[in-house]
Amino acid sequence: MLSETALSPADFITPLFIVHGNDISNPIASMPGVAQLSVDRAVAESAKIAALGIPAVLLFGLPATKDAVGKENFADDGIIQQAIGAIKAAVPELVVITDVCLCEYTDHGHCGVLDGEEILNDETLEVLQRVAVSHAEAGADVVAPSGMMDSMVVAIRDALDGDGHEQVSILSYAVKYASGFYGPFRDAADGAPAFGDRRSHQMDPANAREAIREVLLDVDEGADMIMVKPALSYLDVIRQTREICSLPIVAYNVSGEYSMVKAAAERGWVDEDRVVNEVLTGIVRAGADLVITYWAPEVAARLGEPSIQ
Ligand code: PBG
Repeated sequence: MLSETALSPADFITPLFIVHGNDISNPIASMPGVAQLSVDRAVAESAKIAALGIPAVLLFGLPATKDAVGKENFADDGIIQQAIGAIKAAVPELVVITDVCLCEYTDHGHCGVLDGEEILNDETLEVLQRVAVSHAEAGADVVAPSGMMDSMVVAIRDALDGDGHEQVSILSYAVKYASGFYGPFRDAADGAPAFGDRRSHQMDPANAREAIREVLLDVDEGADMIMVKPALSYLDVIRQTREICSLPIVAYNVSGEYSMVKAAAERGWVDEDRVVNEVLTGIVRAGADLVITYWAPEVAARLGEPSIQ
């Protein structure tokens, strides 16, 4: 009766990793319980997710081939375009959000077009515009640019509106820290940079005022939802963002945050269900409206049971 914060399946977004092929479910070694899925398997999983009361999925694609720009990223028959079409056809009520970034598609693994070892911000924006429009054409409801390029939100908004996709929303990774917690994801999505790191564009973990500046910029550029990522080491940033921003706030409970708990639970060092409830409740209590989490289906199923304590 006196609990201030209650989790609900409606708080969650489930990430899915999509691969080419049929009837494929490749377990990801560093993320127990998570697998790369072919489109048919992703459709089946999406139906389960929707039936659990989870409102949305976030799609990441693994292309057949990679190149310097990542051409499959904006190909009509690209892996994500196929997945969007198939999921929207089978489970129309499920909100389909797509990752819009270059790193999973480029042979160098960086989030932008390169000149030598430097990312070209404005040339990258042109590619992001093509990717966002291509996802919208395939039926995406929301595009989520995750590359932290300057002006990516306004560039994508312009491109979407110019192509008749005024209804497609933008979930901006406004506050994305250069974090060691993305380690397992880079296995899952095969997107580790071939050299260097992402510190030229992702944020310094030491900075919170800068996060507020990033949020205000993206609000100004036309973002519909704001993301803070990772979640656990940045709960203060989620709280501060909540206080200055009236847009929905989405927190990404990232791969490393998931895998650490899984690893400790496997050793019997923590009780997984209990710790997961605490982790997700903490993120919502800090001010997130929605949480992207690999635990979404498992926790949603548990919340549906009569007693969760
Ligand atoms: C980039 C992207 C990353 C994640 C989501 N989108 C990786 C990165 O920036 O290196 C990480 C998500 C996670 O760790 O769960 N497209």
